Amino acid sequence: MAQNRVICTKNDVDYLSIRKAMMSGARTVDELVEIAGVCTECEGCKSELDAILSSVCGCKKVSLEAVVNAVKNGADTVEKVGEVTGAGTGVNEETGEPCGKCKGLIQNIIDQGR
Ligand code: FES
Repeated sequence: MAQNRVICTKNDVDYLSIRKAMMSGARTVDELVEIAGVCTECEGCKSELDAILSSVCGCKKVSLEAVVNAVKNGADTVEKVGEVTGAGTGVNEETGEPCGKCKGLIQNIIDQGR
């Protein structure tokens, strides 16, 4: 599981802030500038923003594209997206508990259809 860390070193924006912005609907770098305040110019922004934006579920390695496609094909609940893609069904390796960290983002993707 990814630890929180600073991604945008210029504006001191961390990974969790970027994921929260995605849960609020950010899907592009421009939207991350607006919602999370990333700079887009520092090394962290240049090297990491695209990968963060394109990933929904780190546990199951499920991409945004895969989740959007599942939603477009009729998966209209977090559970159905999980059945189709595996997203949201990961287990914390240390505790053995269900992870589910990405479920808020999955719900936002369902709500927005993107
Ligand atoms: S990040 Fe999706 S279940 Fe852990």
